[in-house]
Amino acid sequence: MAKELSGAGLRGQVAGKTALSTVGQTGSGLTYRGYDVKDLAANCVFEEVAYLILKGELPTQTQLDEYKASLKSMRALPEALKTVLEQIPATAHPMDVMRTGCSMLGNLETEESFDAQQQVTDRMLAVFPGMINYWYNFSHNSKRVNVETDADSIAEQFLWTLHDEKPSELHVQVMQASLILYAEHEFNASTFTARVCASTLSDMHSCVTGAIGSLRGPLHGGANEAAMELIENMTSPEQAEEQIMGMLARKDKIMGFGHAIYRESDPRNAVIKEWSEKLAQKNGDTNLYDVSVRCEAVMWREKKLFCNADFFHASAYNYMGIPTKLFTPIFVCSRLTGWAAHVMEQRADNRIIRPSADYVGVEPREVGPISAR
Ligand code: COA
Repeated sequence: MAKELSGAGLRGQVAGKTALSTVGQTGSGLTYRGYDVKDLAANCVFEEVAYLILKGELPTQTQLDEYKASLKSMRALPEALKTVLEQIPATAHPMDVMRTGCSMLGNLETEESFDAQQQVTDRMLAVFPGMINYWYNFSHNSKRVNVETDADSIAEQFLWTLHDEKPSELHVQVMQASLILYAEHEFNASTFTARVCASTLSDMHSCVTGAIGSLRGPLHGGANEAAMELIENMTSPEQAEEQIMGMLARKDKIMGFGHAIYRESDPRNAVIKEWSEKLAQKNGDTNLYDVSVRCEAVMWREKKLFCNADFFHASAYNYMGIPTKLFTPIFVCSRLTGWAAHVMEQRADNRIIRPSADYVGVEPREVGPISAR
């Protein structure tokens, strides 16, 4: 029994308690502290949801204004961090840049005690969008972009520091929804990584750095980039169908589809799909959206597999002019809230996480003389 479980990715095992979210249990399928994610995405900005996840309740208007102002005041990048970012080549994977940037920040502004956990989290929330875009613009466009912008929100800050200009209202709205959808997701791989690290009583930057490493993989956060690589060369819905059928025949995995917990749909998909359609119409060229819709239909018809949160994020981000390689770092800027809240929750009722393994190796034996090997 134990062997089967360890080979099955711990699926279905309850590995701890959380008051932060439910997945596949109530409402549309995803709730943060009792609120349905669709409700939050329709009515809130990301900072409200971050506040909810990190502090337990939605903020009042005054609390929200103060929180946003405080985050805004923390956007500056330390000079030493800029120096490190400037050393990282354009060929680096942006998730490696996130990992190094987070770790460097931890060297410069170490969490000296758990009393500082909210403060170091807020600092990372404020810094991460500018950090990745500072590196991107320096390494790709030889430009030291100003990260202390007038952007009113983290959503706007990301787009502003990427393109070095104030983004449109529509694009900011889409980013708000996107950041809300990605903010928290119970015991997913990266969050579990953060919790395991927290359970050793490690510092917040180590927990987040480890989580970034887990999120990097294509079976987790990297799926939105992989989905973009799939759809970007699809020229028409007909050609998309042909391509997907060929991939299914070859038993290829199609990124952006399926989920470890959801069985019939991912509630985040409907929200981002709607935004992707709006962006397509605004853009005037709807091909990316149209091929995505066809992929969705074919996957459901052939395999009863549905789009997860990542699939329509690919077209949505592309319509906003976001380079594919920056898709997963946006996920980091958002999921940081979930990771940090889980670290705080783990710390509040901690026991080191240390499961056992079912041994399947050779029988006990003795070393003997080296000449006998
Ligand atoms: N493309 C093709 N086949 C898929 C698939 C996909 N995206 N997702 C699942 N399947 C297949 C599996 O290979 C499996 O087939 P098998 O029984 O013949 O081996 C079957 O569907 C059931 O898989 P399931 O148990 O539901 O998946 P899982 O829990 O092992 O894995 C994922 C979940 C998310 C890792 C998996 O669906 C996947 O790799 N998706 C693509 C990556 C992705 O989009 N990740 C982001 C998740 S938010």
